[in-house]
Amino acid sequence: MFHPFPAGQAEEFASRLFAWFKASMRPLPWRIRYDPYDVWISEIMLQQTQMERGVSFFLRWKDRFPCVESVASAPEEEILRYWEGLGYYRRARLLHAAAKLIVDRHGGRIPDDRDELLALPGLGDYTANAILSIAYGQDIAVADANVERVFSRLLDIDAPVKDAPARSFIRQEAQRLLPCGNARIYNQSLMELGALICKKHALCGQCPVQGWCLANQRGTVKVRPVQGTRSAIENVVSAHALIIYGNSILVHKRDDAGSWGGMWEFPGIICHGPDIMGELADFLEHLGLSMVPLQHAGHITHNYTNHRLTAHFFRCEAGHSCFPHMEGMPPERQRLIPCAELGSLAMPAHHRKIAERLFNQTARRNAG
Ligand code: ADE
Repeated sequence: MFHPFPAGQAEEFASRLFAWFKASMRPLPWRIRYDPYDVWISEIMLQQTQMERGVSFFLRWKDRFPCVESVASAPEEEILRYWEGLGYYRRARLLHAAAKLIVDRHGGRIPDDRDELLALPGLGDYTANAILSIAYGQDIAVADANVERVFSRLLDIDAPVKDAPARSFIRQEAQRLLPCGNARIYNQSLMELGALICKKHALCGQCPVQGWCLANQRGTVKVRPVQGTRSAIENVVSAHALIIYGNSILVHKRDDAGSWGGMWEFPGIICHGPDIMGELADFLEHLGLSMVPLQHAGHITHNYTNHRLTAHFFRCEAGHSCFPHMEGMPPERQRLIPCAELGSLAMPAHHRKIAERLFNQTARRNAG
């Protein structure tokens, strides 16, 4: 049984919240003009990304891509390169596709219609509602994880916030408390309250709406929000070949679909047994690249959302007479690139880390 916010007090609640927001909000770059393009880009970037990192990527992005047209006309390779470090690259590829459609269908103007927004790649309910309310001022409440945390405490919700009953109750209450004509500031203040005050370790003494907080009255703040059961983090092991030919190295472009779609990496495989070098050697032989010996060059561990990846890298020197080429792989999906130019390719984080290590080694060896 959930308790709705007390009738007749919504107006006073909103006015306390807004006064606090005006005095305390962070000067985020998309809050200058609330331009629909800025709101769109920031909302996509902030999904799964910390604010500080989101802001620095946003500013760098806006320098290179100031408007929808500049995104639409850029090569995918460059879009991915600018996204590198934010992860979840599918977001970048969908954003690129959406920008092209916005230019083709809407003359470069971000739609202010829900159905038109939802018809664009990568735009779901949350992002569409955020654009409609924050950029266009339409009376729609949005609930990201910060807002869910605020409501889970305000209404002392004793069920997992990600499960349907609590989820829909929070959205219904958030919409009911929205004062007409103020959706932009309302949504922004709730997000800001969640980010600055009603954090995991809440600063209840500084909260402008503490008087209404049921969890505060009942002493349950620390156990709200209730988390659902999390799936276990899986350990994944991969092995990759650093195939060196003079000062160059062989890279392969991943399929467009799936994780890290369209990014470049050192050829390799997910391993299933303990003999990772043997599995990699079999894989290389299959591609017509039988180049032993494989010499272990290091490993990189990287935590992704649902798995922890340990990627092992093995160095192989191709002889001068043995131009490395991956049989059966289309020419546009493989490249022999000077090590010094690896920085121009978009690569998954674990490949970037080893590339930097490798490049430094090359520089040091040349210097010495
Ligand atoms: N998190 C996601 N969107 C946000 C926004 N517009 N302001 C603050 N935090 C956010």
